[in-house]
Amino acid sequence: MIILGIESSCDETAAAVYHESAGILSSVVRSQIADHAPYGGVIPELAARKHIEAIVPITEEALKRADVSLDTLDGIVATFAPGLVGALLVGLSFAKALAWAQKKPFVGVHHLEGHLLSPFLGSEEDRPHFPFLGLIVSGGHTSLYKVIDYGRYELLGKTVDDAAGEALDKAGKLLGLPYPGGIAIDKLSQEGGNPKAYDFPIGLNQRDNFNFSFSGLKTALVYTLKKVGYGNPSKTLPPKELVRDLAASFQEAVVQALVRKAFFALEETGLQELVVTGGVAANSRLREVLERKSRKTGIRIIIPDKTLCTDNAAMIAYAGFTRLKKGQRDPFSLNAVSRLALESL
Ligand code: KG4
Ligand code: ZN
Repeated sequence: MIILGIESSCDETAAAVYHESAGILSSVVRSQIADHAPYGGVIPELAARKHIEAIVPITEEALKRADVSLDTLDGIVATFAPGLVGALLVGLSFAKALAWAQKKPFVGVHHLEGHLLSPFLGSEEDRPHFPFLGLIVSGGHTSLYKVIDYGRYELLGKTVDDAAGEALDKAGKLLGLPYPGGIAIDKLSQEGGNPKAYDFPIGLNQRDNFNFSFSGLKTALVYTLKKVGYGNPSKTLPPKELVRDLAASFQEAVVQALVRKAFFALEETGLQELVVTGGVAANSRLREVLERKSRKTGIRIIIPDKTLCTDNAAMIAYAGFTRLKKGQRDPFSLNAVSRLALESL
């Protein structure tokens, strides 16, 4: 089977071609980061408009790189939930129209299923074995899933407020760093920021649930900035060394929250493999702490390649492939949904 996948749930327009035996034939992603950077966050209306501009050339590029034509496809799939509705509608409507015109089978894909199955696109030795624990950490999501099998997911916990990436991005804004803050904070921490300089709180640190909370952490940063005399970031920004230490300490609290909950879930469920995916999985400190924990506990940690961790259409094409293969088809009346539990599929 050869599948065309389309992704447009947030600020990346992406198209990819997946081949059942050869794997990813092409994966093209156009990020809108530069378009949203002046506003310090994703503007939904702007995201939808940018998807409209990009969707045709990105899809043409993916088909060209894969060297396949529309008529040789065995299915066309697109993300239908969750995400920004205006953004989702662009990719979904486009994929449905293409499938209808080409008389191809169509299925809608849940974005988080794409993230959870993305490690299967890596090399053979880097693939997980069912059941495994999946930690999705991005700008929009922070969730822990027990991945029982293809199409069988059990939500163990998720953030009760901000996503981890969202918290890092908000902290970056408060510290006067370029958007997205997560990347800038990681860089500053690597440049010698002291993770122990400030003691930021770890939200929901109790070992009696699998949820996360990051909004208190942001508030703590606001208070800390006030305490050290930089309460109004629009006026004077703190000196570089102070920003570096604050960034590293803030990042440390986020990393510890993620690692502690993930390992608590591993202990409670008895699962032996942990897949970490989403944009924040690129964080160097998170990778370092996870590697150390892996050596200590014997838990196998799988972090897909960065191009598979951040939003892409290859993971959507693959998740769609697993559903088409089982015979699933969705009607062209399938609509975009902003919030939808993965377990409800
Ligand atoms: O998965 P992604 O590309 O998009 C979605 O949110 O769906 O994730 C983007 C998020 C942003 O919040 C960004 O700040 C964060 O991932 N991020 C990082 C790093 N690279 C990206 N956070 C921490 N360290 C990084 N190296
Ligand atoms: Zn995502």
